[in-house]
Amino acid sequence: MKRLVTPTLAILCAAFSVSSHAQFAKTEDAIKYRQSAMFIQSQHVARLGAMASGRAPYDATAAVANAEVVAQISRLPWAGFAPGTEGGKAKPEIWKEQAKFKELSERLMADTDKLLVAAKAGNLDALKAAMGPLGETCKACHDSFRNR
Ligand code: HEC
Repeated sequence: MKRLVTPTLAILCAAFSVSSHAQFAKTEDAIKYRQSAMFIQSQHVARLGAMASGRAPYDATAAVANAEVVAQISRLPWAGFAPGTEGGKAKPEIWKEQAKFKELSERLMADTDKLLVAAKAGNLDALKAAMGPLGETCKACHDSFRNR
């Protein structure tokens, strides 16, 4: 029995590692995916930033629409950082300091949830208050894990 179990486990493990990696056909696809998610996120964060700083008129409906996109898209980039997808502007430290990277990605998702709540509150002060910490989280992760 024991002799049978070991190879079976090995096959299962191999299948698992392939499937988690095979979410994308190629490493370049994973890189493009995470960069695209980051790019779209930044476009919507910038629209909210313009309202928060007074460069654009405050529009409560548009703020909610943008915050909804940001809250959703902040969930996406992480699948694109699977093992073996080093490249782009991602620093190799991401795959060496996984706990720290994960913590910052979770902080981002928590911040974007708060941003959505703030946008739904329907006042500019709430929006301003939520944008500050979000911007700091973007910066904290980029400072540690993104090449210029
Ligand atoms: C947990 C880490 C992390 C957080 C938080 C984070 N980013 Fe990023 N971001 C990255 C990494 C890593 C890259 C480089 C990805 C690559 O090139 O493969 C990147 C790339 C980008 C890019 C370049 C995309 C492109 O077109 O190549 C933009 C824009 C960006 N991030 C915006 C943001 C904004 C705005 C926020 C906050 C709302 C944010 N990021 C939060 C890690 C993070």
